[in-house]
Amino acid sequence: MNRRNFIKTAAAVTAGFYLNPVEIFGGKVMAAENLKWWQRTIVYQIYPKSFADTTGSGTGDLNGITAHLDYLKKLGVGAIWLTPVYPSPMVDNGYDISDYTAIDPAYGTMADFDRLISEGKKRGIKIVMDLVYNHSSDKHAWFLESKSSRNNPKADWYIWRDAKADGSAPTNWRSIFGGSAWTWCEERGQFYLHTFAKEQPDLNWENPAVRQALYDAANFWLDKGVGGFRIDAITYIKKPAEFVDGAPDGKDGLSHIHPLTANTRGILDFLHEFKRKVFDGHDIFTVGEANGVAADELNQWVGANGVFDMLFEFSHVLLPLKNGEIFCRPTPWKLTELKKALSDSQAATRTNGWCPVFFENHDRPRCVNYFFPKDANPVDAAKAMAAILLTLRGTPFIYEGQELGCTNVAWDSIDAYNDISSHAQYEFALNEGYTPEQALEFVHFFSRDNARTPMQWNDKKNAGFSSGTPWLPVNENFKTLNAAAEEKNSDSVLAWYRKLAKFRATHEELISGDFELLLPDDENIFAFSRTLGSKSITTVVNFSTKNIPLPAEFHGKKILIGRKSEDLKPLEIKFFG
Ligand code: NOJ
Repeated sequence: MNRRNFIKTAAAVTAGFYLNPVEIFGGKVMAAENLKWWQRTIVYQIYPKSFADTTGSGTGDLNGITAHLDYLKKLGVGAIWLTPVYPSPMVDNGYDISDYTAIDPAYGTMADFDRLISEGKKRGIKIVMDLVYNHSSDKHAWFLESKSSRNNPKADWYIWRDAKADGSAPTNWRSIFGGSAWTWCEERGQFYLHTFAKEQPDLNWENPAVRQALYDAANFWLDKGVGGFRIDAITYIKKPAEFVDGAPDGKDGLSHIHPLTANTRGILDFLHEFKRKVFDGHDIFTVGEANGVAADELNQWVGANGVFDMLFEFSHVLLPLKNGEIFCRPTPWKLTELKKALSDSQAATRTNGWCPVFFENHDRPRCVNYFFPKDANPVDAAKAMAAILLTLRGTPFIYEGQELGCTNVAWDSIDAYNDISSHAQYEFALNEGYTPEQALEFVHFFSRDNARTPMQWNDKKNAGFSSGTPWLPVNENFKTLNAAAEEKNSDSVLAWYRKLAKFRATHEELISGDFELLLPDDENIFAFSRTLGSKSITTVVNFSTKNIPLPAEFHGKKILIGRKSEDLKPLEIKFFG
């Protein structure tokens, strides 16, 4: 896709017409024989703290992951994305790293890590590490040295600035976790910048020594045989040439940092160097977390001339924030918008680059609660999302527990929440004038803890996650919603995921076939086809909670999976061939 074509699409869509990407973009999709291993596999994301605890500490560990590799194998998983397992004070549960080339003792030892790699290898499962390179922990030796004086050898490894003449912070930027993005450091008599929490100071990528130290750390993990990297918050690494105040956008008088510092000019130069010095020449995949990259820029970020293999693009999961809200509260959205967001990213990577397909991760609520009304049957809703996830074009990412249909929690006090951003969101809502009850309701809907409750393995103590006290309470529905129960039930969400994983692996059209959105204006049905030569599979999902007629174009078509009928029950799924 080139920029002009994309603009044409955007214009067509804004004008109220929906043009199918295939008609607009033309060109050939990547041939089946050119696809790499990671374009054919399923990636499973593990939040190690919550996956499986083998020591009774209440925190999951690496050996817990190794113990469940066969479970993942049965799900068709070929790679595990591990959220950070490095030493960390855990202010942001590992996204505040104090040593880039070691394992946090809470998760085990380097020998445990090596065993995970080798046991994974035996089963064809690679381990993908999370690189958190925009910031480190404020307890990292680099920061401790940097903050100690203005002239130490690491003095400019982070972003330091003098106060304004009146002693206030250098700019009015609000950090992503709330409050000023600047924190005063007594030793240096200066402020340092942190896009996230004050315990996560931003590294200074302008300094070549910083960049080299980060590349060395990534190469350390490549030498250990990892299968790739997920690269955290990468759009923030290049700061703007000038630091200027933004227009205040909240009652705190601050201005959200994201639009002011994300994806600034020159960032791709850093990333091309990163690619050259780390990724090139390895049979791995890279997926960047790239909030702030517009669809018309994607071809500079992924594909032949890009820097990563894939990019997490968030427009479909940020639909409830479409009004540009800077804090999270549920906002109505339409199915047509979800379909458009997903088909735009399919189109943007149709002939260049590749798409990671996901509905959940450790920062998102459970999709069953997020995308469906309260009266939707949660099992059917989970299966509906699975049907879409596993038949769209791209590499599916399953987040732990999603394959069981796990649901959100709703704790009755903000104090029960661990997630740093839930607390920030709650405070922000209060400052904006919402009542504590309303603010807590927003937290119920959006909290990252929804996805971080311990994995529900069985109906025993703590859902079989730990023999100790779990670091975060188990969702109380574990007695009925757990992996052991679903193993025994051929109609479970888990059984459905396994069936679809096989369906995908055995139908090449679902891997390399072209994508076409069908019925783009329909507010009830999500339908699309995947076509390769003369073979084609059509996914049809009734996304609504009402009974609707099956559209005429599907009458008489061959059913591959599903019920033969001329109607669609609430959340019913059919695959036609
Ligand atoms: C994105 C990660 O997914 C999130 O969990 C983390 O809090 C921020 N980046 C900061 O590293």
